[in-house]
Amino acid sequence: MSAAAPRSWRVAPGGAVTGTFTVPGDKSVSHRALMLGALAQGETRISGFLAGEDCLATARSLTALGVPIERPAETEVWVRGRGAGGLSAAAAPLDMGNAGTAMRLMMGLLAPASFDSTLIGDESLMRRPMERVAEPLRRMGARIDTHGGRPPVVIHGTPQLTGIEYALPVASAQVKSALLLAGLAARGRTELTEPAPSRDHTERMLRAFGVHLRQQGAVITLEGGQPLRATTVAVPADFSSAAFFLVAAALAAEGPVRLTNIGVNPTRTGLLELLKLMGAELRVVPHAGSTGDDAEPVADIEVRRSPLQGITVPEALVPLAIDELPVFFIAAAAARGETLVRGAAELRVKESDRLAAMAAGFEALGVEHQLLADGLRIRGTREFSGGSVDSHGDHRIAMAFAVAALRAREPIEIANVANVATSFPGFEECARRAGLGLETL
Ligand code: S3P
Repeated sequence: MSAAAPRSWRVAPGGAVTGTFTVPGDKSVSHRALMLGALAQGETRISGFLAGEDCLATARSLTALGVPIERPAETEVWVRGRGAGGLSAAAAPLDMGNAGTAMRLMMGLLAPASFDSTLIGDESLMRRPMERVAEPLRRMGARIDTHGGRPPVVIHGTPQLTGIEYALPVASAQVKSALLLAGLAARGRTELTEPAPSRDHTERMLRAFGVHLRQQGAVITLEGGQPLRATTVAVPADFSSAAFFLVAAALAAEGPVRLTNIGVNPTRTGLLELLKLMGAELRVVPHAGSTGDDAEPVADIEVRRSPLQGITVPEALVPLAIDELPVFFIAAAAARGETLVRGAAELRVKESDRLAAMAAGFEALGVEHQLLADGLRIRGTREFSGGSVDSHGDHRIAMAFAVAALRAREPIEIANVANVATSFPGFEECARRAGLGLETL
């Protein structure tokens, strides 16, 4: 984390959101482009790369594993792939910072290596569960130690993994992707069944790198031993970052607000469905050419201010909106009537316990709510009080409460915001340009 990063924000109450703008590149896609690029033969050129702390941690760890990576411009990255089995041992533990995706996917990538690796991270990442990946990897023959289920993760490289049939107990793209990466290097077939759809960036990108992958309903099948061919990857703007402005615009737009070049992979856009169910006025204009099962769909999204109505969130939409739920809760708190979210216990094991962090923030802002084991019940109100909230070092909690200021009576102070740079470098400027009265302290 850069020492110059701001520690807290004061966001002025009220304001209007205007303009046409975009947000930085997709975090999930940027991590995957680096990793698949490293495993491929030839040079992969990535444009629109997210130069956020999380993806830079992935880039640094791949460099430490012997992968030449160049960054000719802020958001351009060239990865000289080492081919299957081409990585070499790192001299020190690999530090994944705040990035759960980096750590979990690297477990799958490094389990079949011919050398040992140790993965560590920041305070938040060192508390997050890793057995959900380690356990199925062990079934493939991997040798992995966790510390009571958490990092440090020690991987004793085992080049002779075997494909497995595995039913994922939770809808998790990180678990699925780690197993696909290990499956690529394994003998035989890996067959994964998902309990509900989760983001499918790995599947799409593997196809773009020339890998054959079968998807039949909830079952994904991959034959081990397939080579990856380097390619070009155009990373769309991150829907999860756009989400803060989608909600901001629904609450306080003056005229139409347009977000351009946004990734609208249907496994990510549950928030659009939720906002529509609440009565939001949204228009999605797809870009031509961003279709096919090896591409990421891209669109411009237009939002107008609309009166929102509380809803009971259909549980099937929860995994498709998992990272957007913090800012969705702000929309719910500003809606008429009650909103109920259940089936979201996964939020408790993200960068922070997001259910508890949002509930504590609502307490400070005078929003009536009930914290449930797997969700939140929120009673909407016309205006929040303002006050001090703690982001708990969680980027998405910090940005969600910045949006809340649009409907507050008094300023909202948000502590511990440095980690916003993990996913959204430049959020402060972007928020100010859009119309938020955000000041860094
Ligand atoms: C991600 C998957 C999701 C998501 C995370 C990014 C990914 O996590 O919350 O921010 O890039 O694969 P889970 O796999 O734990 O659901």
